[in-house]
Amino acid sequence: MIKIRTSQGLEFVQQHGQSILDASIAAGYPILHSCRSGRCGLCKAKLVAGDTQCYRREELPAALSQHNWILTCSCSALSDVQLELGAGQPMRMAKAVKLPCVIRQLSESGPDSLLVSLQLPLVCRTRYQPGQRLCVLNAAGLSGTYQVAAVLPEQRQIQLQLARHADSALQHYWFAEAQMDDVLTVLGPLASEVAAGAD
Ligand code: FES
Repeated sequence: MIKIRTSQGLEFVQQHGQSILDASIAAGYPILHSCRSGRCGLCKAKLVAGDTQCYRREELPAALSQHNWILTCSCSALSDVQLELGAGQPMRMAKAVKLPCVIRQLSESGPDSLLVSLQLPLVCRTRYQPGQRLCVLNAAGLSGTYQVAAVLPEQRQIQLQLARHADSALQHYWFAEAQMDDVLTVLGPLASEVAAGAD
């Protein structure tokens, strides 16, 4: 059993065959991520101690990999590791809550952007705020982290503004496959800090 610790105080276990990112999602402390394929850089972390095996290290800019930064979507820990997460990553130990939700609105809000409204269950006690981050998982297991753009408390809905950027399976889902009434899972809130530049 391999333990992942972060300088922000998060601690979780990585199972055999998991990436560090997958381990963080399974533990309920999802590291911010988007493409899961080594291209967006959102999931990066600095390796402070321990050994990792990285299958897509070459995707990191040379300046970052020289300073021990890794892409957690593309690396597994080989021993207990200590990581320093990038700016905007989860900062607290409170475990994120996992809830089912349903797509209630899916509309273009610009040439390359989408407004998505997600309806939370009736029994949801979690109060989301605009600016908080959530991890959203679809039925195929694809996931990304997003900033809450607006909250509609009467309708128990949260809204996300998604921007089309990199070509990835998750982007294809949102912009080509997602349908009204699709059932998704939200995991959060992650942190009140806002990381710029993500979906
Ligand atoms: S590079 Fe890891 S989620 Fe995009």
